[in-house]
Amino acid sequence: MAKKAFLNIRGLMQVREMPIQPLKGHDLSVLPSIANAFLLLQDNEVVNFGSMQQLDERELNGYDLHDASERFIFPAFCDAHTHAVFAQYREAEFVDKLNGLSYQEIAAKGGGILSSARKVQETSEEGLFLQSMETVKHIIAGGTGSLEIKSGYGLTLENELKMLRVIRRIKKQVDIPIKATFLAAHAVPAQFQGQKELFMEALLNEWIPKVLEEKLADYIDVFCETGYFDVNDIAQIGKAIRGSALQLKAHVNQFSAFGGVQEAVRQEAVTVDHLEVMNEEDFEALASSKTLATLLPACSFYLGIPFAPARKLCQRGVPFAIASDFNPGSSPTHNLFLVWSLACLNMKLTPEEAFNAMTVNGAFAMGINASHGAIFRGYKGKFILTNKAPSFAYFPYAFGTNHVYQILN
Ligand code: NIG
Ligand code: FE
Repeated sequence: MAKKAFLNIRGLMQVREMPIQPLKGHDLSVLPSIANAFLLLQDNEVVNFGSMQQLDERELNGYDLHDASERFIFPAFCDAHTHAVFAQYREAEFVDKLNGLSYQEIAAKGGGILSSARKVQETSEEGLFLQSMETVKHIIAGGTGSLEIKSGYGLTLENELKMLRVIRRIKKQVDIPIKATFLAAHAVPAQFQGQKELFMEALLNEWIPKVLEEKLADYIDVFCETGYFDVNDIAQIGKAIRGSALQLKAHVNQFSAFGGVQEAVRQEAVTVDHLEVMNEEDFEALASSKTLATLLPACSFYLGIPFAPARKLCQRGVPFAIASDFNPGSSPTHNLFLVWSLACLNMKLTPEEAFNAMTVNGAFAMGINASHGAIFRGYKGKFILTNKAPSFAYFPYAFGTNHVYQILN
C-alpha cells in the first residue's frame, strides 16, 4: 500500500464535511482551511488530516514523508464549462479583433463557430483524439481535476458523434472525471443555412435520439443568442429530453437578455452559463430555482464584454460556479489560476469566493459534488501542491505566475 504524508503545510484549503449544498451568499465567502497542517494519503485516498499540533507521530509509521513547508494544498479545480475538443486555434481572429472587429463581425466574415466546424469536419477522429488528449494533459497539469467538455464544432450528425466519441475516448484515458455535453445547437449548421426550423427538426427527431442511443453525453446544451438559437428552441430541447438520460445546460445572456434564463429555469436546466447581461427577471428566476449559474470571466476578458454581475448574484443568494469556457474563439485559456485572478479583479470577488466557485460549486455544475471539489476523509481526487507562497491571497494576486509545484494523485 502506498502511504504518503504531507507535513507542515502552510494551508490545507477547502476542507469540508460532506455532503454540502451549493455555496451562495455569505457561505460563498467562507473557505474552511487548516493552517500548519498535515495530510495523510493511503493509495491516493485521504485517510486523515489536521493541524500539526494534533498529529500523533506514531500515525506516520510506514509513510513516505514529504515536507510541505510554505506550500499550500488545494483540491484540484473543477472546470465545468469547456469546449476543449477542437481541431485548430483561431489566432487569426485575434488579430481581426485587435483591428476592431467584434465577435459577431468575425463570425459574419467566415470566422467563428462555423469555421471551427469546417476544421473538425476535415479532421479524422484519430487526429482529433490525439490532439485533444495532448490538450487535456496540459489542462490536468495546470491543476484541473475534473472537466466538462462540449461538442458543438461538428455540426453534422456524423461530426457531432465524432466529437462525442473523442470525448469518450479521452474519458477512458485520463484519471479525472470527464463530463460530455452535446452542443449541436451551437450555430445553425452551414448545410441548414436560413433553415433553422429544419435543423431543429433534425436535432430533435434524429440527432438527440442517436446521442441517447449511444449514451454519448451527460448533458445537452444550446447557445441562446441573437442570430443563433432562441427561447423557443430551449423549450423544445427541454421537452425532447424530459425523462431521458440527458440534462439541460444553456449558454444564455452572453450578449443580450431576452428570456433565455427564465426558459432554461422552466426547463429545469442544471446550469445557465455566461450571464454577462442580466435583467431583474433573470435574477428573480434564478433566485427561486435549483438552477446554478456558471460564470466565465476569461470570455469577458478576451472579448472585451461586460463581466457577469457576480456581486449581485451573491446578494440575491444565487449560487454560481466559475469556469474557463476554454475554446478557440472566445476564451483561448484553460488556466484556472488566471481565471481566478480575473474573477477577483473584474467581478470583485474575494479570493475565497472565487475559489469556492471553481471547486465546490464547479463540482455541483457537473453533478460530482459528492466526490470532488473539497477535501474530506475518503477524497480520492487530485490535489494541487503549490509553489511556495506567503498567503492564500497571493495566488490570484500574482496573476500569470505558475503556482503549481506538483499535482498529487
Ligand atoms: O462559450 N458562446 C458560444 N460558444 C462559445 C464560443 C465558441 C466559439 O467562438 O468558438 C462560448 O463563448
Ligand atoms: Fe461556452
